[in-house]
Amino acid sequence: MTDHQLLSAVPDSDDIGVEASLRPRRLEDYVGQERIVSKLKVFLQAARERRECLDHVLLFGPPGLGKTTLAHIIAREMHASIRTTSGPVLERAGDLAAILTNLEAGEVLFIDEIHRLGPTVEEILYPALEDFALDLVIGQGPAARTMKIDLPPFTLVGATTRAGLITAPLRARFGIVHRLDFYQPEDLAQIISRSGSLLDIAVEDGGAKEIAGRSRGTPRIANRLLRRVRDFAQVHGDGAIDRDAAQRALELLEVDEFGFDEVDRKILTTLIEQYAGGPAGIQAIAAAVGEDRGTLEDLYEPFLIQEGFLQRTPRGRVATRRAYDHLGISPPAGMTGSLF
Ligand SMILES: Nc1ncnc2c1ncn2[C@@H]1O[C@H](COP(=O)(O)OP(=O)(O)OP(=O)(O)O)[C@@H](O)[C@H]1O
Ligand SMILES: [Mg+2]
Repeated sequence: MTDHQLLSAVPDSDDIGVEASLRPRRLEDYVGQERIVSKLKVFLQAARERRECLDHVLLFGPPGLGKTTLAHIIAREMHASIRTTSGPVLERAGDLAAILTNLEAGEVLFIDEIHRLGPTVEEILYPALEDFALDLVIGQGPAARTMKIDLPPFTLVGATTRAGLITAPLRARFGIVHRLDFYQPEDLAQIISRSGSLLDIAVEDGGAKEIAGRSRGTPRIANRLLRRVRDFAQVHGDGAIDRDAAQRALELLEVDEFGFDEVDRKILTTLIEQYAGGPAGIQAIAAAVGEDRGTLEDLYEPFLIQEGFLQRTPRGRVATRRAYDHLGISPPAGMTGSLF
């Protein structure tokens, strides 16, 4: 059985320790994601030349794709410091108001999991984002009055794995909204080589490619697999990670050629064996797999859909021809041709 943590995009305690040291600090070291990188280059330069803050940035996409990393890079490129908080931490409107009034001009405020802000906290943000102002209500009942406080100009970077849960008024207040994509294998190979040199691990191109292909398009997973493969290369070989060493290690770690874990396989076998390939509702699949719906929607489906194993239709989830092929199950007679 594959170690459940090994292929999860959610950070484990080990990742948290090492990630800070692997995080690229400058935009030019941020691998892949060409669309947002090229846009940001222009916006950053324009803002710097005008001596203004960068527009507010909303980043969304599955875990481990580099949202936090990009927030730190934005601050650095603006020669600004960054303050970090998160949706669940900001329980009361006053918590956010305190942070906002303490900002220095030009600072970057990073709010992770921004979809988890409560409605009253979120309302504080609207005028802050739009006019750099706070509308405070003083007193209660008929005696209540509002007071406007000016805030220093700042850039908010919001990050979320659940774009669908951001309210329309909040989303509308971001000038730059971008969805991060899963990485191409070539980009992941480059990230692995870079991490190898930072961690003093000898990784050959073939080894980096082998790990990249099984990393579910996710830098966090790529860096984790690299560290695990290193252990095998050190104990079973001479420490160098070439294609052969990587292949053997990944086989022992039971990471398959797509980086599927048991949950991925279970989602597809459930669909195929219990629902004749679908459509089936997400709730029913979640129950059969023994995971909650949110986990499937956030962590598993995006990758399966992107890789063409699963389709999301109005009537439910459907297994593709590719899913049948991968699991070695013969597809129903009517199912011809693969999209791939
Ligand atoms: N474009 C990139 N180039 C190089 N390394 C990257 C890139 N993006 C992410 N990484 C690596 O992956 C790790 C995870 O990235 P990060 O913490 O920024 O992800 P995240 O999107 O914020 O995840 P979460 O949703 O869990 O907060 C980083 O520590 C970094 O080492
Ligand atoms: Mg993050």
